Amino acid sequence: RPGCTRIPVVVHVVWKTPAQNISQAQIDSQIAVLNQDFRATNGDISTVPAPFAPLTGDARLVFALADRDPAGNPHDGVVRVQTDRDGFGSDDAVKFSSSGGSDAWPRDEYLNIWVCQLTGGLLGYAQFPGGAAATDGVVVTHTGFGTTGTASPPFNRGRTTTHEIGHWLNLRHIWGDDGGGCSGSDFVDDTPNQGGPNTGEPSFPTISCSNGPNGDMFMNFMDYVDDAAMVMFSEGQVVRMHACLDGPRSAIGE
Ligand code: ARG
Ligand code: ZN
Ligand code: CA
Repeated sequence: RPGCTRIPVVVHVVWKTPAQNISQAQIDSQIAVLNQDFRATNGDISTVPAPFAPLTGDARLVFALADRDPAGNPHDGVVRVQTDRDGFGSDDAVKFSSSGGSDAWPRDEYLNIWVCQLTGGLLGYAQFPGGAAATDGVVVTHTGFGTTGTASPPFNRGRTTTHEIGHWLNLRHIWGDDGGGCSGSDFVDDTPNQGGPNTGEPSFPTISCSNGPNGDMFMNFMDYVDDAAMVMFSEGQVVRMHACLDGPRSAIGE
């Protein structure tokens, strides 16, 4: 897959309180983060420990708010919907106007991002390729979206959206989702086998599953560390994301 792939984005802001009706600046700050993280131009990529630095990958994806709505009319790519719901879980209610949310735009043309108040400490969730069109996209809580406005530490560097778009492009969690064992895989060859998720800001090396001397690639966007500690996709992950864009998601970004 040569060159860059452009992904038109629609952001659905589903709000009850005025604070949840996030500013355009907060939305723009998130798009800016995506355009760094998926081009490996984020400044903090320099913190990748030397043994892992050769594995960093440029996903060559460029994100932009849509400039047309599905009918072809000029649009700014932001849909704002007032709701009577205090918050949303992972049941996809936010994706339907009939349940207090906002209906998806066609996934063949847009990446749908819903921003709302998520409950229970949930930062975000994503739909992998292969699911229903009406629920396709990612959901992020407003306090974990972008780098300004209501974004709150330690999740105020826009990395929840980066992580969720990784899932949307078929990336698994780097530890293989095996409940802390050493048998699960993320189906990427250049990410070390890792026991369970890392959190906070780990120090290098963090060893599990006999993966020394370099240990876990905890600074990967698909681990569970704080925003300040996740700074890279691997080249193998880029290959997997591109396979998704050449396969199940080939309609978008043409
Ligand atoms: N819990 C979410 C998920 O598994 C997102 C985790 C994002 N982590 C972060 N540091 N922003 O999809
Ligand atoms: Zn995840
Ligand atoms: Ca594991």
